This record gives sequence, structure tokens and C-alpha cells, in this order.
Amino acid sequence: MPHLKNDLFLRACKKEKIERTPVWIMRQAGRYLPEYRAVREKADFLTMCKTPELAAEVTIQPIDIIGTDAAIIFSDILVIPEAMGMHLDMIEGKGPVFEKPIRSKEDADELKVIDPVKDLKYVLDAVSLTKKELNGRVPLIGFSGSPWTLLTYMVEGKGSKSFSVIKKMIYANPKLAHSLLDKIADAVSEYLSAKIEAGADAVQIFDTWGGILSQSDFHEFSLPYIEKIIANIKRKDEPVIVFAKGVHYRLGKLSKCGADVIGLDWTMDLNKVRTRIGDRVALQGNLDPTVLYASKEKIKDEVEKVLAAYGKGSGHIFNLGHGILPDIKPENAKALVDYVKELSKKYH
Ligand code: CP3
Repeated sequence: MPHLKNDLFLRACKKEKIERTPVWIMRQAGRYLPEYRAVREKADFLTMCKTPELAAEVTIQPIDIIGTDAAIIFSDILVIPEAMGMHLDMIEGKGPVFEKPIRSKEDADELKVIDPVKDLKYVLDAVSLTKKELNGRVPLIGFSGSPWTLLTYMVEGKGSKSFSVIKKMIYANPKLAHSLLDKIADAVSEYLSAKIEAGADAVQIFDTWGGILSQSDFHEFSLPYIEKIIANIKRKDEPVIVFAKGVHYRLGKLSKCGADVIGLDWTMDLNKVRTRIGDRVALQGNLDPTVLYASKEKIKDEVEKVLAAYGKGSGHIFNLGHGILPDIKPENAKALVDYVKELSKKYH
């Protein structure tokens, strides 16, 4: 493995001393880049995920074009249910759709127990190829959805506003929900261990839909499975990041889940969160993604605000509070990265 030339991201995850704050962007390999769209024109989304050469190419694009301090492997959280046997369509303008969502014990019984090393080998191949092609320029992040967020898609079948189908399951048939969550947690643990084995330098667990649960339901249906995964991941010193959108008051418990880094959405005050849990974990975030629609001056001001909110010292990884939107101008994303690099020096 080549030695990392830029390891700011990994050092910040461990709160080691650094020269400036590292920055990467959730969904940085995506449609806002014309170079991504050019590849995507030739192949559909799943084909891209399943072709290591294409996945590696688009993973590295944002490193070349906007200069982020970490790469995140191009893939999707939904490759796990797809490998379990659920047919997945990625529909333009609508998002992911499962033809036959899980609604009953009979549906659940049809799910395959997967061996990620075999059934998701294409992701692992993409990780090792990307690692090779990055040649130590920046660290590579592997990721997965949390069991709760994956189950939400598997049961709803698509994106949702009310989440009534999955909520109905947790209230009408909690036993079924728990058995599915447990099955998914086992698959995710092995999947993330295999990604680390294939070369990922860190892993991030996305709990995009943790925030739709009440406090007690979050503690029953999401957090224990995240904790189980973190306890079971085979790793040396590769950091684990947990991004749970809309978690607010659950930060105290979340900061004790075993993660090295907690990702925050833009509704949270980085300063207050640091005071509360910053001695235990590093923090990642949390610029409102829509700030990237603004002028360069405004982007600069908002970057400064986020940096000032965290304040002096290591333990902050700059990111957006959620994924970059497809109609953002690449030059604005590049400006953001440049501002973080320039303005963060005085905090170290
Ligand atoms: O961050 C990166 O650059 C790595 C790649 C990545 C993708 N999806 C690629 C993608 C990552 C980390 C994800 C995670 C993901 N996927 C999440 C969790 C993070 C979050 O945003 O909350 C979720 C909920 C999904 C499920 C998913 N995949 C949705 C809802 C959609 C449709 C919305 C959209 O942006 O189109 C996808 C499709 C998807 N995943 C695309 C990309 C680049 C766009 C597909 C295309 O090119 O047509």
C-alpha cells in the first residue's frame, strides 16, 4: 500500500494535531459534475457501481476537479438489499425503487443471507482498484447505510414523506422489524470489514432516516444496530464515522456508540455540540448544502462561520450537512474547498 501523501482527514478523525481543517463533500462523486454525467451517459447507475473501472474513475473525479482531502468510494447504500435479492431500479428524477418491497414475514424469508465478500465482490474490487489509482494522494472512505435506513427503503420500496409503511411495521410487527434489522446489521458488519480489508482507510455509516423516529424508537430501532456494527467491524485504527441526520437531542447517546466521528446536519450548532460531546468524538459537518447556490462571497462567509463555530484545535472535518445537490455549480464546490483550506489555517 502506498504511503498517504495527505492524511489530514485521518488525523482529524483521531483529533491529532493538523495544519488546517480537512474537507470532503457527501455525494461528491455525482451529477453536479459534467465529468460524472459524461460517464453516466454511457452506463446506467448500477452498471457504474458494478464496473470497478467506472466506479474508480468517478470516485477520483472530485479529487482532481475540486480538490477534496478524502475520496468516498462510488457506490450506493442500496447495493446490500439488491444483493439480498431485491430488484432495484434507479429512476431518473424519482430515485431508487424496489419492485417488490418487504411487507410480511414471507417476503422477509425470501431475502438471501449474503456473504459480502462474494455477493458484493464488485464493490471490494472497486475499492482496491481505486486505492491503487489514488496512489496515496488522499484516504479512501468506504460506507454503508445503517440497518434502520436500509430497512426504511426495503419496506417503503422508495423514498417517502410520511414513512407510514415502515412505521406501521415497527408498531404492528416489531418482532419482524427487529429480526430484519439484525440480519441487515450482520451483513453490514461483514461488508464494512471487507471494505477495510480491501483498502478503505475509514468507513461512514449513513443513518439518513434516523431523524424520523421518536427518541425512544431511535433507541430501540436504530442505535443498537449501529452499535452492534461498530462493535463487530474488524479494523485496526480505521476510523468509523456515523452520520445520523436530524438526531438533535440524541447526541449524548450517539457519541457513546463507538464511533470516532459524528457527522452533523446543518441544523445543529457546532459550537454547542463540541462543548457537549467534543471531548469524546471528532465532528464532521455541517454547512447547509444550499449555501452552494449563493455567491462566492456568501459561501466564504458561511465557511468562516462553520470554522469559527468549531473553533480552535483539531477534531473537525469540514463537510456539508447532507449531500451536495445535483444542480450546484462545480466552481462553487471548488470555491468552498479552497476557502476551507485557506481560512482554516488560523484555527490550528
Ligand atoms: O458520496 C459519494 O460521492 C459516494 C456515492 C454515494 C451515492 N449514494 C451515489 C449516488 C453515496 C455515499 C450514496 C449514499 C446514499 N444513497 C444515501 C445516504 C446518504 C444520503 O444522501 O442521505 C441514500 C439515502 C442513498 C439512496 C439513493 N441513491 C437515493 C435516494 C438516490 C436518488 C437521489 C439522487 O441523488 O438521485 C440514489 C442515487 C444515487 N446514488 C446517485 C448517486 C451519484 C444518482 C444516480 C444517478 O447518477 O442517476
